[in-house]
Amino acid sequence: MNPTYRIAPSILSADFARLGEEVSNVIAAGADWIHFDVMDNHYVPNLTFGPMICQAIKPHARTPDGQPVPMDVHLMVSPVDALAAAFADAGADYISFHPDAVSHVHRSIQAIRSKGVKAGLVFNPAEPLDVLDWVIDDIDLILIMSVNPGFGGQSFIDSALRKIEDARKRILASGKDIRLEIDGGVKPDNIAAIASAGADTFVAGSAIFGKPDYKGVIDQMRLQLAGV
Ligand code: DX5
Ligand code: ZN
Repeated sequence: MNPTYRIAPSILSADFARLGEEVSNVIAAGADWIHFDVMDNHYVPNLTFGPMICQAIKPHARTPDGQPVPMDVHLMVSPVDALAAAFADAGADYISFHPDAVSHVHRSIQAIRSKGVKAGLVFNPAEPLDVLDWVIDDIDLILIMSVNPGFGGQSFIDSALRKIEDARKRILASGKDIRLEIDGGVKPDNIAAIASAGADTFVAGSAIFGKPDYKGVIDQMRLQLAGV
């Protein structure tokens, strides 16, 4: 495997009063994707932002020379389908949902892809990957949670490394081009171990937005990844 690593800062830890500026700044600092954590106070015990905010941020999700930066929408909501459609219309590039939050996983994947958006499945720390036996050919991204969803700033749960290894084997066996993303507690000092387990896309909220120098943190992460 010779992965192209992607760093996806989660704006959950950004300054919400200056969201557009925060997105522009973190992209200027080297972010590859913008991770957008949607919480509904039902599937998770917290409430964040909806499609109107995504639409407002979309024009800011560009590199300084004007290239679009993917908006990676992580839905921690139930039900999923109506909101997923609204995020597709709001400019999402990837939309991921938790299979345990829907009744018909395959139908929800199809609904996202029918909008021309890439679809992902998200697995909580205690959730098995079994559903991938049946839908891996239909998805573009697997997101492994290394914290329980709902809040930034939690500690990395080590069993996620085994799950990443398992997911990587499944991706290799499928022969498909599927990104393998990790979300929760990612820092410069554990990113190399996570990449060694097989992840290629790294969400990081508090590690980046919690520090004054976003570029310094992203550069440290890339340095660690270069040594994997
Ligand atoms: C948790 C969110 C994560 C979280 C990551 O529900 O999905 O994206 O914000 O935050 P850190 O990097 O602070 O653990
Ligand atoms: Zn997330």
